[in-house]
Amino acid sequence: MTTNRTLVIVAHPNLTESRANATRLAEIKDLDNVTVHDLYQAYPDFNIDVAREQQLLREHDTVVLQFPVFWYSVTPLLKAWFDAVLIPGFAFTFDGSPSELRGKKAWLAITAGTTLETYTAEGLARRTLEEYLAPVTQTLQFCQLDYQGFHAVYGVMFDPSDEDLVLEAKEYRRLIATSEQPVG
Ligand SMILES: Cc1cc2nc3c(=O)[nH]c(=O)nc-3n(C[C@H](O)[C@H](O)[C@H](O)COP(=O)(O)O)c2cc1C
Repeated sequence: MTTNRTLVIVAHPNLTESRANATRLAEIKDLDNVTVHDLYQAYPDFNIDVAREQQLLREHDTVVLQFPVFWYSVTPLLKAWFDAVLIPGFAFTFDGSPSELRGKKAWLAITAGTTLETYTAEGLARRTLEEYLAPVTQTLQFCQLDYQGFHAVYGVMFDPSDEDLVLEAKEYRRLIATSEQPVG
């Protein structure tokens, strides 16, 4: 059996103040065959090394994008990463030929400040998180990645206990360690 190599791309602008994302990272840090790549640490000035990023993607079979929801979307550096790294020839083609990303799995690991109830037609957000993420999931699929779904924790701004965050992070670890598909 070949080993599945997973690249976790973390895009949180302030991990020292983070609870949910930091807890997730602490849970996965000792996993074999997992590379954790902290974008804000690597590129605090948003000066992305495109060749390095593309090489990292080539070297892994599964890509997990881990980020907090900022204004119903990804954080600014993750959007800048899409714009810089996912370029024609490498990430997509216009003639149906395979991109360098074809066949790799991708999923999203999201933290949201507000509750799951908020993300309903009747709730304050008026749409589900899945609906808000459509541009991201379409980007991944356009780049011929095999989109697996997302794993979300909601309500982080309502001070979940450390125990709840650790429990949630253990489920995140399990998904990465087993290469199982997230349910969201
Ligand atoms: C600029 C900004 C925008 C945010 N926008 C949203 C949002 O649209 N929806 C939401 O649920 N939470 C939003 N939040 C809350 C963050 O998603 C939440 O604080 C984060 O997921 C918590 O994770 P952490 O403990 O790792 O920092 C926002 C936070 C900031 C700073």
